[in-house]
Amino acid sequence: MSKSKDIILTRLRENRGRFLSGNILSSELGISRAAIWKHIRELRLNGYQVSAISSQGYRLEREPDLLNTEKLEGSSIYYYQSVESTNMTARLIAEEGAPNYSIVVAEEQKSGRGRLGRDWFSPRANGLWFSMLLRPQMLTPARAAPVTLVAAAVLANQINDQFNLPMKVKWPNDLLIRGRKAGGILTELKGELDRIDYLIVGIGMNINQQELDFPKGLRKIATSLHIESGDLFNRTDLLLSIRNKLARAFNLFFTEGFVPFYMPWKKHNVTLGQKVTLSWQGGLLQGKALQLTKDGALQIQDNRGTIHTVNYGELI
Ligand code: BTN
Repeated sequence: MSKSKDIILTRLRENRGRFLSGNILSSELGISRAAIWKHIRELRLNGYQVSAISSQGYRLEREPDLLNTEKLEGSSIYYYQSVESTNMTARLIAEEGAPNYSIVVAEEQKSGRGRLGRDWFSPRANGLWFSMLLRPQMLTPARAAPVTLVAAAVLANQINDQFNLPMKVKWPNDLLIRGRKAGGILTELKGELDRIDYLIVGIGMNINQQELDFPKGLRKIATSLHIESGDLFNRTDLLLSIRNKLARAFNLFFTEGFVPFYMPWKKHNVTLGQKVTLSWQGGLLQGKALQLTKDGALQIQDNRGTIHTVNYGELI
């Protein structure tokens, strides 16, 4: 941590429960108020909750709530403070022989990745950024696409049931609450045409962020469980229970296919019946999302009435 940021944090801690004026900080440190504000923003990005009121200054509300590593022990969960991307680290542990259902979780990702090469904003200690390694025995790449839908159905089910929050799934990988993005899934595969070596299911969920924790460009389109409910969530307990539910679900998927997840997915989906535009391998397909097949493909009827069955792509 830079020296000024360190001092600001110490002063905020000394004044816990009270506001500390920006002017005082600025003259104590001999730097401008704009520079103070910049450090406060960085503290927020590091998971500190600091409120700011223009006439009063800054108050430290909460220190970063790091995952409880003792609770994670013994559950094949590989914990990191900071990684480039948990999907990348999961590939490394996969190559070293880590077992089926191992998880890589990090407090922050420096280059979190979304689908189609987008960035995934993954600041420290207030979301869940993790990747699960899957080593299916009998699955071929051609039948692997529903893995993302299985994960989406499991997550939406859990967040609805446990917290009574209306999390929805948008085909194939978006997790939305009240139309805003609360999470996403990035599934990657290593193998050959007829054989999967392993799959990496990368999951990002916005948990305890406040609106101001998101960069301006994301504030209108992203949300978190905290923003939607006003509650703060124990990320360790949530991760452990999601891990167990996902492992059970993938076991079932590997033996019985997508059928057991068909109804749960449909129950939470916001895609079917909508006009959609599918972006796929550089082309666009416009039409209506008619139905999901029993093996997890989306049927889109184009404007001429032709029905296309698609396994991959992005709805834009
Ligand atoms: C998307 O909606 O575009 C997918 C977002 C997936 C983000 C997660 S966070 C954990 C894992 N590591 C990454 O770099 N990406 C996924």
